[in-house]
Amino acid sequence: MNTPICDFVNKYCEKDVLRFHMPAHKGKNVLGVEDKDITEISGADSLFEANGIIAESESNASMLFGSHTFYSTEGSSHCIRAMLYMVKMLGCKQIIATRNSHKTFLTALALLDIDVEWLFPSDDSHYLSSNIDTLKLDELLSNQDGVKAVYITTPDYLGNITDVSEISKICRKHNAFLLVDNAHGAYLKFLKKSLHPIDMGADLCCDSAHKTLPVLTGGAYLHVSNDTDARFKQLAKNALSLFGSTSPSYLILQSLDMANAYLSDGYREKLADFIAEVNKAKAALTKNGYTLSGNEDLKIVIKAKDYGYYGTEIAAFLEQNNIICEFADKDFLVLMLSIENGVESLTKLVDVMSKIQKKVKINETVPILEISKRAKSVREAVFSESEVIDIKDSIGRISAQFNIPCPPAVPIVVCGEIISENAVKCFEYYHTETISVIK
Ligand SMILES: Cc1ncc(COP(=O)(O)O)c(C=O)c1O
Repeated sequence: MNTPICDFVNKYCEKDVLRFHMPAHKGKNVLGVEDKDITEISGADSLFEANGIIAESESNASMLFGSHTFYSTEGSSHCIRAMLYMVKMLGCKQIIATRNSHKTFLTALALLDIDVEWLFPSDDSHYLSSNIDTLKLDELLSNQDGVKAVYITTPDYLGNITDVSEISKICRKHNAFLLVDNAHGAYLKFLKKSLHPIDMGADLCCDSAHKTLPVLTGGAYLHVSNDTDARFKQLAKNALSLFGSTSPSYLILQSLDMANAYLSDGYREKLADFIAEVNKAKAALTKNGYTLSGNEDLKIVIKAKDYGYYGTEIAAFLEQNNIICEFADKDFLVLMLSIENGVESLTKLVDVMSKIQKKVKINETVPILEISKRAKSVREAVFSESEVIDIKDSIGRISAQFNIPCPPAVPIVVCGEIISENAVKCFEYYHTETISVIK
């Protein structure tokens, strides 16, 4: 597969011209990458009005993903806002969303003044879980009027993948659009049998390419299904432009461009081989007494308390041994993998983790998050005057700003909701001491 953006920049560097244009480093290599960091000079195309090398590269990505694929250099966060704008433009005023939605989804609701109906998990699932109550979803969609849309997040932070095809069937039955936050799942396209949301019936989907593929931080895809309403394809660039910087990073664009060549050249086979090694590592950890969670190939998620530790304690031990995890809290240790980790690092990981002595299971249970009562819309709450108070004094007050630590950036209480005793218990469990509330 060709790499038009990289080819253009490489040729430009070879010419060694005098750069009387942005960026200000003028290609002088203080950091070591500046020469390839260009701007929209003649021939370099323009991300939000692409009709040259960027359009060509995006069409390569579209071919790889089997969708209309658009680049972002500002992450899935950018694409999530664009997706919500697009459904709003098609007339959607209220969206049904799973409660494990990322903070960016809330910012989009606030900016676009879209109302939300939350879909809580079917059982006592963890608040980060993507577990969906399909009967409830069916009921909520039956009760809705107007243009309908559903927003789900899968894979979740704990390595669970939802069966998107099942959710898609319910959406089709009700003529609802299905939007998927697939920030953690760009690689799903390249499994032996694709599990990518677009292949499973999603209308719109975002992938943080940078999370699971060898792409620079910020590189992301907005995918529009070939089978969905044609207006989405027309709206996509405008939607991204509405929320995007007018200075997209050409380093990130080159990285997305190069990823096309990388992904089309044996990646699928390399991924299958690597996953086989990951499975061996998972089996070795289980044999050592660890309990694993989730069904995702490129995450290892340890239920830490079952092993007698908090996740943060295991994370600290790993750090002493030069291993840094993605995320740890009291209950979980989350390790995110990609082919680039290599087999040796899996061996090292298992080796270091086997040095931790198993202890008696910690029996402290996680408080189950109950449905909070809503007093104001997300938008009203975010634009209200607020103050920060002690969490213990917050019962009965209305949550104002986002109050969401990142990672995992998933809310316990959403802006506009009344803070309950249960919510305070949940915050205290995670050692949150203060909270922003409406004045
Ligand atoms: C589930 C989920 N959605 C969206 C995002 C935002 O993605 P990005 O950092 O690429 O903007 C994240 C980031 O961690 C995430 O975990």
